[in-house]
Amino acid sequence: MIVIEPRDPRTQSEGVVEGYEQTGWRWPAQPLARRRHGIAELSGPGDLSRRLPLVRGDLAGYGDKRAIGQLIQIHARVVDEDGAPVPGAMVEIWHCNAAGKYIHPNDDHDAPADPNFYGAARLLTGDSGLIELRTIKPAAYPVPGTGGWWRPPHVHFSVWGRVWLSRLVTQMFFPGEPLNERDAILNAVRDPEARSRCIARLAPKENVLVYEYQLVVRGRKASPGMP
Ligand SMILES: [Fe+2]
Repeated sequence: MIVIEPRDPRTQSEGVVEGYEQTGWRWPAQPLARRRHGIAELSGPGDLSRRLPLVRGDLAGYGDKRAIGQLIQIHARVVDEDGAPVPGAMVEIWHCNAAGKYIHPNDDHDAPADPNFYGAARLLTGDSGLIELRTIKPAAYPVPGTGGWWRPPHVHFSVWGRVWLSRLVTQMFFPGEPLNERDAILNAVRDPEARSRCIARLAPKENVLVYEYQLVVRGRKASPGMP
């Protein structure tokens, strides 16, 4: 029988984050009740990639259609509690453009859109648990109504498990960003070592800055859920 160490709460996001009003609406006010999963929750669906089409591994474009910004690659590896790769996992990725603007109707930040930036991808991990995304580095952006909280550059990830209820939604941060120190979402993870695991490792190559990252789907060192 496989025994998986439970998550350490200090390595996970605190439910309601001071200064971040939306977390009060998103997180339950009462302790969660444990409920046995039934066949409806545990039976799938299988083969997610047939239901959710895969979407490009390139948000940066080519030639005249290149997105503006610093070209980067993100190499993200999905691993289990022992660091073993998870092949065939569906990973969704999205981030804002190099001016801090999302492709989303709710984004009213006064920053220019970039017609050559696509904003989102959906990929499957290969045998080594890896996905590779070519994109541009996202910028910081202000959180409306907070009097000066700017999100540091970050990338959102969603990793689907084998059933719908099994899903990790988290964020990747960039090393050396001064706004990391004061970000309410990153600092909602109280353990400094766990926070440092949310920051990608820079591994520059000849023509592109590569950021390496690990998405840990379960166990004590599971990546923290971040909205
Ligand atoms: Fe964001």
